[in-house]
Amino acid sequence: MKGKEVKFLYLSEPEMIEAGVLDMKECVKVIDEAFHLLGEGDYLMGGPRENEHGLMIWFPEEKRFPNMPVNGPDRRFMAMVTYLGGRFNVCGEKWYGSNIENPKSGLPRSILTVMLNDAVTSEPLAIMSGNLISAMRTGSVPGVAAKYLARKDSKVCGVVGAGVISRACLMAIAEGTPSLEEALIYDILPEKSVAFKEEMEKITGLKVTPVDSLEECIRKADVISIATAGAKKADIPTEWLKEGALLTLTGTAGLTEDCYLDNTVIADNWKMHQAWMVEGDEHPKGIESILTWAPSAPVIKLILDEKMKHEDIRSLGDIACGKVPGRKDDKEKIVFLTGGMPVEDVAWGYAVYQNALKKGIGQELKLWDEPHWF
Ligand SMILES: NC(=O)c1ccc[n+]([C@@H]2O[C@H](COP(=O)([O-])OP(=O)(O)OC[C@H]3O[C@@H](n4cnc5c(N)ncnc54)[C@H](O)[C@@H]3O)[C@@H](O)[C@H]2O)c1
Repeated sequence: MKGKEVKFLYLSEPEMIEAGVLDMKECVKVIDEAFHLLGEGDYLMGGPRENEHGLMIWFPEEKRFPNMPVNGPDRRFMAMVTYLGGRFNVCGEKWYGSNIENPKSGLPRSILTVMLNDAVTSEPLAIMSGNLISAMRTGSVPGVAAKYLARKDSKVCGVVGAGVISRACLMAIAEGTPSLEEALIYDILPEKSVAFKEEMEKITGLKVTPVDSLEECIRKADVISIATAGAKKADIPTEWLKEGALLTLTGTAGLTEDCYLDNTVIADNWKMHQAWMVEGDEHPKGIESILTWAPSAPVIKLILDEKMKHEDIRSLGDIACGKVPGRKDDKEKIVFLTGGMPVEDVAWGYAVYQNALKKGIGQELKLWDEPHWF
């Protein structure tokens, strides 16, 4: 029998842009669809718990071999794998490395690729530049959360951290909260807030105002988006939160215990955070190994200290599907945690790949005319 030819599409970053990767309206729709599939259970992520965020290479603290990298802030490699059902019906992976020193060499902190495969035969369908997929899908999640969890009369969004991810978060929150009129931006580097205003006013059509203090940014906001990076967390006393506020945490923040204990905590997918807990337990350094970086670390700690229970935390997919309630009333303050999932990368990557096929964008590459051995 003659073997089958296998070709796949390669999409560079400019080709991803041409194929619509920066279309946030569409991205929020697609990621909302992915959350519905999550709620219905029509997905599989890696590992026996079917909910692993990814498999990480943990670099050692001390040099073992001349070329082997050592651990450092935001230093890791991660393979994030998934099957996503529904109309997607595809397997895929986001594979990335992160090194905080990269910008000194003209590179982004993390460099990502996304691969899609036929879920039945495993034939590769596409290999794509993943940086914009990842930024857009990350930003879209607080947008989907805002759609289900923000007060319907939300007017002001407080954005903390004027980096890459915050841009995508504000674009998505503007989509998910049509009543929004203004954004306040706070960054420890004021010049970054000014650049953010200039770019984001054009993109979102919202009035964007840089503010001098974190307190002002939080106190006036109906929806808050936190996406800072680095050692200095944004410390937010609970009393700064307005009645009915939705606080979305894409990066970590310094919240006090009462913020989690006295308010409603909702996660993107709590089962994934539970899998992180198990992984932490299995690490030679124990649970401390994940508490330094997991966005849900404070909640995990409260669970370990028996001050909270897993059942206290709802997941966005279940809310999207109507399996569990979302916002109770206009007074409720909600803390929303997102850790990022490969289902989001594959959902948005697949949608952009479909556009590329329709528009004839990208380069067809060949794996083989027929397999050498089969
Ligand atoms: N949950 C997810 O799916 C996901 C995915 C990707 C990135 N992230 C996280 O998002 C965060 C932001 O990533 P990025 O690529 O936009 O980083 P970035 O470096 O582009 O931007 C971060 C910004 O935060 C500012 N900042 C730092 N500390 C601050 C503080 N205390 N108060 C106010 N501003 C502060 C910095 O000056 C910078 O402008 C990171 O923590 C990253 O790990 C989360």
